[in-house]
Amino acid sequence: MIEIKDLEFSAPVEDEGGKMRAIVAGMDFTFEKGKFYGITGPNGSGKTTLAKLIMGINPPTGGTIRFQGEDITGLSITDRANKGIAYSFQNAARFKGITFRDLLSIAAGTDDEDELVKIIGRVGICSLDFLDKPVDAKLSGGEIKKIELATTIARNPKVAIYDEPDTGIDLWTIGPMVDLLKKEQTEYETTTLVVSHNRAFLEAADAILLIKDGRIAYSGDFEGAVPILTDLSVCGFSDTCEETNDARCYR
Ligand SMILES: Nc1ncnc2c1ncn2[C@@H]1O[C@H](COP(=O)(O)OP(=O)(O)O)[C@@H](O)[C@H]1O
Ligand SMILES: [Mg+2]
Repeated sequence: MIEIKDLEFSAPVEDEGGKMRAIVAGMDFTFEKGKFYGITGPNGSGKTTLAKLIMGINPPTGGTIRFQGEDITGLSITDRANKGIAYSFQNAARFKGITFRDLLSIAAGTDDEDELVKIIGRVGICSLDFLDKPVDAKLSGGEIKKIELATTIARNPKVAIYDEPDTGIDLWTIGPMVDLLKKEQTEYETTTLVVSHNRAFLEAADAILLIKDGRIAYSGDFEGAVPILTDLSVCGFSDTCEETNDARCYR
């Protein structure tokens, strides 16, 4: 489905005096159609960079990305979006003067009320009033996340990439969010890539991709990833983790 080969992203790193560093340092992997992948690893290991390379937000400095057999390495974000790849940002954007209905209509390609209602139902939004909420600073973390997920799902993507979808939401919302992404995966055969430290997402995954220092340190089932995550003291897998009250550190 998505095949990455020798994928590389090098950039000058400020902290290191502008020296070039391989943030993604040669990755090979094949994401299969309709599967759910949990991408995890320590902070700063290159997870977001990998996700952005697949979406085309970052141009790779080496290697190739193929989608359904076609080389898409040189394609723009828009071209990739048109082919069915969607990306959900860790920190959703807020827009003054724009309502949820506006964003959802753009994503769904229709402003037909029945269609929009169907989509918000998929995400578990039951109130129609929610459609006319302005997407501004007044929204709570949970509300903006629902909006972000809804706009991703509204595209009916073949591949949906979620970067830390549990950011800014409370612990109790995570279960329903995992259920939602699993349901989308199984009902629509959506190839799902979730960047997360959260055990609930990782347990739900068909396969784990553990990234360390810009490389794939492990790929396989969740059980096999646990000892490595514990060794690396990845948040949520270590007793010494200081962020255990963080919603991401679900135990
Ligand atoms: N475009 C860029 N230019 C320079 N450094 C970057 C760029 N993108 C990411 N980095 C750095 O690369 C490292 C990995 O970033 P990222 O992929 O966001 O990590 P993760 O999502 O695993 O926490 C970080 O140290 C980050 O600051
Ligand atoms: Mg990240």
